[in-house]
Amino acid sequence: MPETRAAIEAAIAVTGLTKRFGDVAAVDGLSFSVASGEIFGLLGPNGAGKTTTIQLLLGLTTPTAGDVRVLGLSMPSDRLAILQRVNFSSAYISLPSNLTVRQNLRVFAGLYGVRRPQAKIDALLELFEVSDSAGRPTGALSSGQLTRVNLCKAFLNDPEVLFLDEPTASLDPDIADKVRTALQKLQRERGVTIVYTSHNMREVEVLCDRVLFLAHGRAVADGSPSEVLARARSDSLEDVFIAIAREKTPAEPER
Ligand SMILES: Nc1ncnc2c1ncn2[C@@H]1O[C@H](COP(=O)(O)OP(=O)(O)O)[C@@H](O)[C@H]1O
Ligand SMILES: [Mg+2]
Repeated sequence: MPETRAAIEAAIAVTGLTKRFGDVAAVDGLSFSVASGEIFGLLGPNGAGKTTTIQLLLGLTTPTAGDVRVLGLSMPSDRLAILQRVNFSSAYISLPSNLTVRQNLRVFAGLYGVRRPQAKIDALLELFEVSDSAGRPTGALSSGQLTRVNLCKAFLNDPEVLFLDEPTASLDPDIADKVRTALQKLQRERGVTIVYTSHNMREVEVLCDRVLFLAHGRAVADGSPSEVLARARSDSLEDVFIAIAREKTPAEPER
């Protein structure tokens, strides 16, 4: 719905965002926006700056330069107000391993001030098909189960914007498909804006309304998957990805 997109304030607006770690510019003058209700794919090779961008959007790390607005609020000055309305999950977050899945989720539900936490937790466990693991310590779960528990945690506060860093990375194809379906359902029913990273280009084609390819912290292609394909004169995002990954950046120093 391109005509309504302009009328609604962007859920996320990033201008000139830069993050340096010593000599490395992990994110290098990045500008983009994400419309409300969109599923937005942040793509690119390992080390492109995807995780750092998500951390900057969440205020987990401070930018070297640039401006981040989420839901019309400024990061970092409105950080707490933003964090109440967003959530995130990463394949690499660890939950206290001696607590059970349910205990872990109850702790987060308490932190988020969830009303009727029991019902909420049960519904999310069901949605992501991990009800069977509710009584087990998180330390005893497979990485796929842990990923799904992290997704339950990410939806506890009914976030308006959700940041997912490689949510399907450790899932088998069947469970990955179920997670995609659950994410689409939550997007359709609640209009959640989702920013997510993945290396699975087929999944990205199915799920994303819009994508942004990063290389060396810079935007190198963006648009709807079909726009990106048309511009690259390609019929597969996988080929676009490989071409981007193999491109040498002009700014790369001579050795
Ligand atoms: N805390 C850090 N300290 C130093 N360098 C970092 C740190 N975090 C990320 N980097 C570097 O920034 C670049 C981008 O990393 P990252 O955002 O994790 O990429 P991606 O998620 O796309 O794989 C890489 O070169 C990485 O080594
Ligand atoms: Mg990453």
